Amino acid sequence: MMSAESPQVVSDPAVLRAALTVIRRQGKRIGLAPTMGALHEGHLSLVRACKAECGYTVVSLYVNPSQFGPSEDLAKYPRTWEADLAALAGVGADLVFAPRDAEIYPSDYATWIEVGGVAEPLEGQHRPGHFRGVATVVLKLLNLVQPDVAYFGQKDFQQALVIQRLVADLNVPVEIRVCPIIREPDGLAMSSRNRYLSPAARQRALVLWRSLERARELTARGERSAAAILAQMRAVILQTEDAQIDYVALVDPQTLLPVEALTGPTLAALAVKIENTRLIDNYLLEP
Ligand code: PAF
Repeated sequence: MMSAESPQVVSDPAVLRAALTVIRRQGKRIGLAPTMGALHEGHLSLVRACKAECGYTVVSLYVNPSQFGPSEDLAKYPRTWEADLAALAGVGADLVFAPRDAEIYPSDYATWIEVGGVAEPLEGQHRPGHFRGVATVVLKLLNLVQPDVAYFGQKDFQQALVIQRLVADLNVPVEIRVCPIIREPDGLAMSSRNRYLSPAARQRALVLWRSLERARELTARGERSAAAILAQMRAVILQTEDAQIDYVALVDPQTLLPVEALTGPTLAALAVKIENTRLIDNYLLEP
């Protein structure tokens, strides 16, 4: 069997810049898949998409502290370095950029990116400061790597919109690709946070997908009232022991503003806590 070649691992931004200058001189298209590690098939699908389109694939592994709220899971966020490197070797990533906190946020760090509009509802409302941290680190990663293309997952639908807004507003010369959600065979959207779930909670977590499926079925049967669909989506979730709804929403997929009637493509989005693990998922309804 052919052994997969390990990617080059770099933590120093100056070393990264030097390595990528050589690649750029070779005329290669550079792609970036930003991640926080704890990789699963969803992340690997971004790396595969990048490999298919670019001559050189960079993956960043950085658990960005500034996108976690004070009572969130930064300290316990899964760190699976060895397994991540093995997985990235398996899919043929060329370079892993894994900066240290001091390289991203030196002690005198003072600049933050605030995106308005699409960053405000849903996750923006329920996780204050989250998108400020995401937008700041993503802009820094884009500046450090200067990729031609950057890859994000549709699982974080709102994050992808926020990054598209940021890139357009600040004239960042990069193409943004949004890749489909990867689900387990039973429908659970892949997420690094699924690792927190006990086997019983993992089963209960299927309620997110079942709620989205209910929305899909109702839409397919001709229901167009957002209130009626939302009531049923919530009812599905509330049947599940210890499921706590953060939000269940039907919104315009471009503005993320709530819709009253489904007259065009509509995003069903939800955030639900199962056994204290906060999970998000979404589905684009096409009435
Ligand atoms: O989606 C994620 O894993 C993170 O929000 C990102 C884009 C890597 C920024 O830290």
